[in-house]
Amino acid sequence: STEKLWGGRFSQQADAWVDEFGASIHFDQLMADEDIEGSLAHVKMLKKTKILNQTDSDQIIAGLLDIQKDLHQQKLHFTVENEDIHMNIESILTEKIGPVAGKLHTGRSRNDQVATDFHLYVKKRLPKIIEEIKTIQKTLVKLADENVETIMPGYTHLQHAQPISYGHYLMAYYSMLKRDVERFMFNQKHTDISPLGAAALAGTTFPIDREFTAKELGFKDVYTNSLDAVSDRDFALEFLSNASILMLHLSRFCEELSMWVSYEFDYLELSDKYTTGSSIMPQKKNPDMAELIRGKSGRVFGHLMGLLSTMKSLPLAYNKDLQEDKEGVFDTVKTILPALKVFNGMISTIEVHKDKMYKATTHDFSNATELADYLATKGIPFREAHGIVGQLVLKGLQNGKNLQDIPMEEFKEISPLIEEDVYQVLKPEVAVERRNSYGGTGFKQVREQIEQAKKELEI
Ligand code: ARG
Repeated sequence: STEKLWGGRFSQQADAWVDEFGASIHFDQLMADEDIEGSLAHVKMLKKTKILNQTDSDQIIAGLLDIQKDLHQQKLHFTVENEDIHMNIESILTEKIGPVAGKLHTGRSRNDQVATDFHLYVKKRLPKIIEEIKTIQKTLVKLADENVETIMPGYTHLQHAQPISYGHYLMAYYSMLKRDVERFMFNQKHTDISPLGAAALAGTTFPIDREFTAKELGFKDVYTNSLDAVSDRDFALEFLSNASILMLHLSRFCEELSMWVSYEFDYLELSDKYTTGSSIMPQKKNPDMAELIRGKSGRVFGHLMGLLSTMKSLPLAYNKDLQEDKEGVFDTVKTILPALKVFNGMISTIEVHKDKMYKATTHDFSNATELADYLATKGIPFREAHGIVGQLVLKGLQNGKNLQDIPMEEFKEISPLIEEDVYQVLKPEVAVERRNSYGGTGFKQVREQIEQAKKELEI
């Protein structure tokens, strides 16, 4: 192992395999851009406050810009000896401009440096994630618009409950994703704060200007407390939590998709572009992408639980445990961005078997509530009506007849108030259309949801 940047007080060196264990360069190099940005802001501040003179500062700035260029041309080479991205960049800077590079770290610690990089990393990715969610919302609204009057069974307990509009079903997911967008936006409020200048834990005696560096880096705010600044990872926990809830939503949809493309349901068909075949069974068309999105939700939940567990017993302020905060977040970004994209492509190309969906509502008893409601409007107390219809269902099940098949004479025996219009009420599409209480599945209500959503999405 080579000479360390912090090697002064050490007389023995760690073995290479111990260095390897302590190093984070194999993953935190993902924040190389953010690290250089952070250093540039810091040195500009050192120049402005005259903590460093102009010549030194300008040399450091030029060196960092040079490194930035090399990074973008993939010309940088990182080493485990230099442990993490921060010391790797500093050591490259030293190679480029000599010992003056050592002045860059004046009034700064790796503790506020890594926190700054990590905040920047998350801050930059949140808008992209929000954008991808909104793309899905637009797709859902478009599909809902085309399917306001597509009738399907609505389920509770996975049992036919009442017929609903497929558009209404799609708009339920629109609403979930709307909350996801709001959560990620709120996440930004807690991410958009600069820890830079907190130094190791207690601030610094140098007359630094934290507002200046915050502004340079585009941070809205500055951490008020230096201990909090270097040890807070709430923004990362919130990110993982928001990502988990988002993945949970996608996963539920994917679960339904997987069922509904099965032979037994056959409500939907996925495009060939988002399905796969079997290496042995020639007839197969598997909803692999849906399953994989459902599956990947698990790893995102795991990252949340991992970071919560890492954080729970950490005394203030920085502890090396915090180095474990990044991989889960990086992996979550790497997981959810393509998951969102695949999800959108997959649902955009779904073929809806409207006839199958409709048919599934015609030979069940999901119009039982309609009949009970009908009796109630004729003056029979709802509880009593419920009991009467329950008996009709039982009878129907025994002789293979649905409610709409009951002849008028039989209806009249129940109540002379029942008229021909009962058959109209028992039609699934009529049942759906008439559920026009606010937020209900009635066509008018679904259209209103869609209009509202279009306003929200500005489309
Ligand atoms: N690689 C470290 C991390 O990811 C950087 C900060 C190290 N600071 C320290 N005092 N060891 O957290």
